[in-house]
Amino acid sequence: MRKKIVAGNWKMNTTVSEGVALAKAVAERAAGLGEGVSLIVAPPFTHLVSVAEVLKGTKIGLSAQNCADHTKGAYTGEVAVDMLKDAGCGWTILGHSERRQYYGETDEKLVEKVKLALEAGLGVILCVGENLDEREAGRHFDVVKAQTEAVLYNFSAEDMKKIVIAYEPVWAIGTGKTATAAQAEEIHACIRKVLAAKFGEELAEETTILYGGSCKPSNAKELFAEKDIDGGLIGGASLKADDFVAIAEAF
Ligand code: PGA
Repeated sequence: MRKKIVAGNWKMNTTVSEGVALAKAVAERAAGLGEGVSLIVAPPFTHLVSVAEVLKGTKIGLSAQNCADHTKGAYTGEVAVDMLKDAGCGWTILGHSERRQYYGETDEKLVEKVKLALEAGLGVILCVGENLDEREAGRHFDVVKAQTEAVLYNFSAEDMKKIVIAYEPVWAIGTGKTATAAQAEEIHACIRKVLAAKFGEELAEETTILYGGSCKPSNAKELFAEKDIDGGLIGGASLKADDFVAIAEAF
């Protein structure tokens, strides 16, 4: 059985006190959530220690939104994997399209980051997804396949057990435009094929693949009903505890 996950990417939102209040609200609201789905929240770096404190004793996971591509030293402004682990993180998101687009994150850099995260004992949520031009040119399968291979083919099947993939079509992020369940499903199925080609069917079947891009309580049920969609990476709707947990309840 694949793990079902709903992860909240808070991006660059909330102050520390607002983030602590949000984490508390999520924890309270999620208390009655069944065993079938795991929640993860990904606050900004400055909030991690305080949010970790709030999440102690709950089953909610804590994730960073990024990590450095070096372990320590003279890299001003960066945060290393060991620091994240020490702050209480169990996970890091990597390769979000906003990082690829605005901060020049390349597949080569991502290989390095995934490697360091895994070595530090962090789980990885690796994001892939095509932009609008690529979709309109009919290149979405090729783009997602290439991104997936470029990073993940550098790892072993054992490593893959600590990696979750998030398919996030860039045109659906923060735009209110969700991919239809069928559009998302066909890409998820394609990613599973790409994994099977390198790691075998069994590993491909076991890998959790999340959908992200304007996922909200009103469309989560339809998306999660697809056989290859194992949960969501939620941006905007993760900033409201009720909406975030309601998405997880869609399972
Ligand atoms: P959104 O963002 O839910 O606000 O579209 C998703 C994401 O970027 O992870």
